Amino acid sequence: MKKITIAIDGYSSSGKSTMAKQLAKKIGYVYVDSGAMYRATTLYALRHGMTSRETGVDTAALVAALPDIHISFTLAPDETQHTLLNGEDVEKEIRGMEVSGWVSPVAVIPEVRHYLVKLQQSYGNDKGIVMDGRDIGTTVFPDAEMKVFVQASPEVRARRRYEELIEKGTPSDYDAVLANIKERDHIDTTRKESPLRKAEDAFVLDNDNLSREEQMEVLVKLFDEKTRG
Ligand code: DC
Repeated sequence: MKKITIAIDGYSSSGKSTMAKQLAKKIGYVYVDSGAMYRATTLYALRHGMTSRETGVDTAALVAALPDIHISFTLAPDETQHTLLNGEDVEKEIRGMEVSGWVSPVAVIPEVRHYLVKLQQSYGNDKGIVMDGRDIGTTVFPDAEMKVFVQASPEVRARRRYEELIEKGTPSDYDAVLANIKERDHIDTTRKESPLRKAEDAFVLDNDNLSREEQMEVLVKLFDEKTRG
């Protein structure tokens, strides 16, 4: 069967990562979490004093440091994918509220985007990949054979993220999570450089009222259609 490229885009905490991971596992494709790459870059900026409440992100310093930022992925013993920043497993730290609070201003920097988009495109050379993010179907892989755009209301997404944070042992305030999601939606959709938007040829998956199983059914059906023949 021919291998294709699958792009899954959508809003923060819309469940796209879980969905993309499950799909990749089911069809034997490689999964790449592009958001983790923006998060790891943000962690680097935080650790190197490149953020300030008063002046925001020190763009010049971060852009100058890009050649020193090496991001990769590894499979943990429990078979979950972990993100490495310069060889260090930062999976837990990049999911915390501090990184979540700074990631959108980092992700608007054009040089950061160009650097990470190139890296993302290199992963897709051999196809057989599922990548999730905001601009995968529009900028990273505009020729992807299968594109999905995932939608869910801010409240449903905040509830999911809130429960995820509790599960990960880093509980947080629901209202703060909701505010963060709304703020990220705003920045992600209004930024100049590759804003979050649905690719014209993307299939819209509205998952407010769909179970995980129902979502997978929809995706596998779409995959079968795209790879048939
Ligand atoms: O998917 P996520 O919530 O882990 O992504 C974290 C942030 O990274 C998100 O707020 C926007 C940014 N991002 C992006 O700009 N482009 C991508 N392809 C993926 C994520």
